Amino acid sequence: MAARPAARRALRSVSAPLQSRNPKMTRSFSHATQFRAAATDSARDPSRKTHFGYETVTEAEKQERVAGVFTSVAESYDRMNDLMSFGWHRVWKDHFVSSLNPGFSPLGADASTRGPQHILDIAGGTGDIAFRHLRHAHVLNNNPSVRVTISDINPAMLSVGKQRSETLPASQQAALTFLEANAEDLTRTKPLSQTTTTTTTTTGTDPIPPTSGIPSNSVDLYTVAFGIRNFSNIPAALLEAHRVLKPGGVFACLEFGKTDASGIPLLDTLYRRWSFSAIPLIGQLVAGDRDSYQYLVESIDRFPRQDRFRDMIADAGFAVAGRGWEDLTGGVAAIHKGMKPLA
Ligand SMILES: C[S@@+](CC[C@H](N)C(=O)[O-])C[C@H]1O[C@@H](n2cnc3c(N)ncnc32)[C@H](O)[C@@H]1O
Repeated sequence: MAARPAARRALRSVSAPLQSRNPKMTRSFSHATQFRAAATDSARDPSRKTHFGYETVTEAEKQERVAGVFTSVAESYDRMNDLMSFGWHRVWKDHFVSSLNPGFSPLGADASTRGPQHILDIAGGTGDIAFRHLRHAHVLNNNPSVRVTISDINPAMLSVGKQRSETLPASQQAALTFLEANAEDLTRTKPLSQTTTTTTTTTGTDPIPPTSGIPSNSVDLYTVAFGIRNFSNIPAALLEAHRVLKPGGVFACLEFGKTDASGIPLLDTLYRRWSFSAIPLIGQLVAGDRDSYQYLVESIDRFPRQDRFRDMIADAGFAVAGRGWEDLTGGVAAIHKGMKPLA
């Protein structure tokens, strides 16, 4: 009996490439089939239901209301993150990016021996993850060939990010592209609109032509931090991540998790009390917007448990190592990773 969970974990770690080959894994295979149907049915049926916090709404309505939330919070977003998390979001984001080690090349320190690495930061908002990628790759790994595309559905969030990026070193600004796109359909993208603070950063060497969508097999590293729970159709977004990544490319997600299995006494109770009482109140006092922060708390509560989300990543076709995720601060947040198999 004791070996069963371990065996299940081991199977899970290679489940993506095995699912279609191993007849004993029909359950996993049918999960993956249902998963793909969930992603594509929605394209045929925009009235499909999903959740907006605790409310049941259509996917189209969720997208509209999420846009309203982030347009409303864009200006106060960075300050609120510090207040709501006691600054922990910075620690989690630092750890997330360090764990991915962007720009690292086993070929050594000479930049001329490396091919350009392309990182796509989805739901990148005001740039916290993209800026960390650039700094880590260009400064710590001394790899200026790394380029980062910061993509978000919401131009208001990107616009704040664009303004913030102006304090980055010029070489890092030149390696950054801002793109408006829905993570659930990356075949249609557009550059951050010209009505925002400054012009859009694009260069002739950009691996993603800014208006033509993101090509299949073009991205080395796909990251999404605190974004995916806001998507209307998560399976569709995971399949898009799989499509745009090169074989061997990495999907990495930083998202809130569940704390009830942490084994840390009172953590779950305290965390829930803080989330549901304090965060909407701080939102009201600091940002003048209680409803948006009530939604953020509810969306965290509704997001799947870590093991369930790991299964969704595997169902999208990613190979998942070990148990598939790393809990941060007792599971308040978690990092999930998957690799697009080489063949
Ligand atoms: C909580 S913010 C996270 C921003 C940033 N990644 C960070 O960690 O600070 C969530 C972001 O997800 C974006 N978003 C929501 N739905 C999206 C979608 N379908 N496609 C792309 N971005 C989306 C929102 O516009 C918002 O900027």
